[in-house]
Amino acid sequence: MTHYAISLYDKLREKQPLNFKKLIVVSGDTSQENLGLSAVDRQMLTEKVTIIIHNAASVKFNDSLKYAILTNTRSTRDICILAESMKNLMALVYVSTAYAHLDNPFIEEKVYPPIDNWRKMIKMAESLDEHILNVFTAKCLNNIPNTYIYSKNLAESVIQDYSLSLPCAIVRPSMGT
Ligand SMILES: NC(=O)c1ccc[n+]([C@@H]2O[C@H](COP(=O)([O-])OP(=O)(O)OC[C@H]3O[C@@H](n4cnc5c(N)ncnc54)[C@H](OP(=O)(O)O)[C@@H]3O)[C@@H](O)[C@H]2O)c1
Repeated sequence: MTHYAISLYDKLREKQPLNFKKLIVVSGDTSQENLGLSAVDRQMLTEKVTIIIHNAASVKFNDSLKYAILTNTRSTRDICILAESMKNLMALVYVSTAYAHLDNPFIEEKVYPPIDNWRKMIKMAESLDEHILNVFTAKCLNNIPNTYIYSKNLAESVIQDYSLSLPCAIVRPSMGT
């Protein structure tokens, strides 16, 4: 993946070097509420951003349920909340995974019913301590193989709900290299 990324940016550097002047780096942490963004950066994003590609995720299969929900599900809600304040938003693209709906043998280009209520699960992850949530993990996951898939499935449901007020799209890549 790194190899392709370097090639891609080399081409851009060669053909459109001025495009790099558009890049503004901000510091954030998707495991934190409100994405760990400063108020100044939030304001700047609200003014300038037209397209969001929400790609950040913890992709570890063995994260605790608490961490997976906060980092992958709550962050998606907080991206949507930020997106609602953006003045010129044209699209919010959520990078999900083809494995978010494992109980279906064939994944169609449609949204599927969620495995759980994302609002309830975010509240649980915020209020219960890690140990208690670990005890409940097997019960919550039911037949879902890991906390990553579970949190990504719930995140799709967040996007589905916010698509009533935002121009959302979901992409579901399969296995990368
Ligand atoms: N690879 C696959 O086969 C595959 C398949 C389907 C879907 N996806 C999806 O594609 C997306 C990218 O995954 P990937 O495989 O490319 O994984 P990756 O290389 O680990 O990329 C994950 C990205 O999320 C960022 N991130 C993780 N935790 C963060 C945090 N707490 N705060 C801010 N940023 C954080 C990472 O930033 P740092 O680099 O700074 O850590 C990294 O840029 C994910 O949404 C994943 O679910 C991947």
